[in-house]
Amino acid sequence: DWNSGNVIADQVERIRAQVGDGRVICGLSGGVDSAVAAALVHKAVGDQLVCVFVDHGLLRQDERRQVEEDYVKATGVRLVTIDARAQFLDALAGVSDPEQKRKIIGREFIRSFEQAAADLVLEAKSEGGEIRFLVQGTLYPDVVESGGGSGTANIKSHHNVGGLPEDLQFELVEPLRTLFKDEVRAIGSQLGLPEEIVQRQPFPGPGLGIRIVGEITQDRLDLLRQADAIVREELSAAGLDRDIWQCPVVLLADVRSVGVQGDSRTYGHPIVLRPVSSEDAMTADWTRLPYDLLAKISNRITNEVAEVNRVVLDVTSKPPGTIEWE
Ligand code: XMP
Repeated sequence: DWNSGNVIADQVERIRAQVGDGRVICGLSGGVDSAVAAALVHKAVGDQLVCVFVDHGLLRQDERRQVEEDYVKATGVRLVTIDARAQFLDALAGVSDPEQKRKIIGREFIRSFEQAAADLVLEAKSEGGEIRFLVQGTLYPDVVESGGGSGTANIKSHHNVGGLPEDLQFELVEPLRTLFKDEVRAIGSQLGLPEEIVQRQPFPGPGLGIRIVGEITQDRLDLLRQADAIVREELSAAGLDRDIWQCPVVLLADVRSVGVQGDSRTYGHPIVLRPVSSEDAMTADWTRLPYDLLAKISNRITNEVAEVNRVVLDVTSKPPGTIEWE
């Protein structure tokens, strides 16, 4: 029968057999899959692994710290953080179309990771070593969906942006290929990874970038990050963060409405709360959060986040609404 200790021991053995004394690279996203996959590989081959984390500036509050401090402390992995915030803002300037944003974010992400990987390949070479393997947090449902293929891949496999240098071809290491999400979480806990990472709710790859309806700017990101942090803090203080599937917090950056604060008229932006309940994100219902909690969140956001003078609740199921607004 299933036991996370057995799975860990078994995977550690398999990883050692596959990798030998080769070097391995892994991109961390801040999510549970890559975190657990990297932790397994580190347990198996230690400092033969190097992890890369790209800070694209679209992260939630504290996300970078959770990876750089908490995760590194829990696992001991060697981590290289790439600060690509300015690069992403530049590339996204003037863009408000959702699919265009996704395309740019995907492209810049690959570009940053590839650059970091190329640097690490060179560094390894100068030490007489070679990075031959790339870790991916592919889960069993992903394997089924994609028809079960495996083998070698380059970083760009999902992004059609042209050729890749020969020395950036890697053999894949996929220690989660037989596992479901809840099993991955169990293994993460067993490995002692931070709870914030192991129990993290789904969060889209393009991050806060697709939760600003309108153009992405530094000021808007800061504002949304602050509102999002308040919502998460209150949901978890109320003990509800594990009951809901996820709660996107959306900034309607191009909308303004009139309000009043003290003696003065305000003209600020609305924040939308989108709490949803779901089994698999294919369909969803809006979560009936307690009114007192909604009141508290609304008060805090309008008091603490400058420029926001209204908080609204999305009461649309999926379909017809999607979970995200973009
Ligand atoms: P929708 O908005 O389509 O979202 O109802 C369904 C689930 O997918 C997540 N989502 C994304 N995840 N990249 C991702 O990695 C994306 O571009 C993206 N768009 C939506 C969303 O958060 C929800 O869990």
